[in-house]
Amino acid sequence: MIKNNPVILGIESSCDETAAAVIRGRTLLSDEIISSAAVQAKYGGVVPEIASRAHTDAIGNAVKRALDSAGVRKEELDAVAVTYGAGLLGALLVGLTYAKGLAYSLDLPLIGVNHIRGHLAAAYLEDETLRPPFITLLASGGHTAVIYTKTETQFEILGGTLDDAAGEAFDKVARILGLPYPGGPHVEALASAGSNAIAMPKMLKGQGGFDFSYSGLKTYVINYVHTMSQKGCTWSKADLACSFQHAALDILVEKTVEGALVKHCKTVTAGGGVIANGYLRAALTSACREKGLNLVLPARSRCTDNAAMIAAEGLIQYRAGNFSPLTLNAAASIPLR
Ligand SMILES: Nc1ncnc2c1ncn2[C@@H]1O[C@H](COP(=O)(O)OP(=O)(O)O)[C@@H](O)[C@H]1O
Ligand SMILES: [Mg+2]
Repeated sequence: MIKNNPVILGIESSCDETAAAVIRGRTLLSDEIISSAAVQAKYGGVVPEIASRAHTDAIGNAVKRALDSAGVRKEELDAVAVTYGAGLLGALLVGLTYAKGLAYSLDLPLIGVNHIRGHLAAAYLEDETLRPPFITLLASGGHTAVIYTKTETQFEILGGTLDDAAGEAFDKVARILGLPYPGGPHVEALASAGSNAIAMPKMLKGQGGFDFSYSGLKTYVINYVHTMSQKGCTWSKADLACSFQHAALDILVEKTVEGALVKHCKTVTAGGGVIANGYLRAALTSACREKGLNLVLPARSRCTDNAAMIAAEGLIQYRAGNFSPLTLNAAASIPLR
């Protein structure tokens, strides 16, 4: 029987966060994360084998914490939603196998969730009145796109990156600047001590439709650092981080607002790790206000990987009657649709 406001457990283990969350309808009851990021930071990135083992250690506790802090017994669940892709195969299999075991033992429907659609669904938890159509800015470690969300299950990608994703550009620039992984928050912190003083490539400003390109910006930053050090010039890391941040993010704001105007949407949402960036949040907020657009931004902790967004997308699939067989396998890469 399909309920209107089901209680759904979401599980996420696609990368280095083991996460579990419980929602009732669109109300978030709990949101727990056990991260292996500190261990991974020693290696400058995520080591798949270490991630898988860390998930195995953490998954039972993450789920228990999520149920306990929600005040929900496992027998009260209506469905189990879990990320089945995209991500690291070994890492995904830990969450997926755990979710299957739980769904089987409790005789509950299993809902396999596309991680990226999870990022897009995070906004639904922020505003219970949010309804499509709207324009969504997706900016994560692997994806950058402006998306027209027609209905909860139908999307049109207006444009996307032609090369690197925005988050990937932050991670690569962080590495050039000697900052730890994941680079985004470290570049943001450094940028806040600098000014937008260094001229950067103009990106695909005013051209390329809704597409983005980050490879030229990344190369420019690499060349800047090499040239300055070869010439023995003094230069400011903070100014470089700040100027990069403006160039990388202003274009996202511009094309997202343009998307809303072209598609006659009154509402804009966003999702993905880069949306945690404070400069981007402020810039989107003021650009939307200027154009009279309603902006729904997920809380910062629900922009980076989390299980609440997986439960939120699980709710959409539950209402659409899209359940998964217990033979569902993990997939390293899957398209948005
Ligand atoms: N404050 C921030 N500013 C800019 N980028 C950020 C910030 N926080 C996280 N990121 C970036 O977000 C990405 C991770 O986001 P996520 O949505 O989990 O990616 P994916 O799901 O594609 O792996 C990383 O590239 C990270 O550097
Ligand atoms: Mg993610």
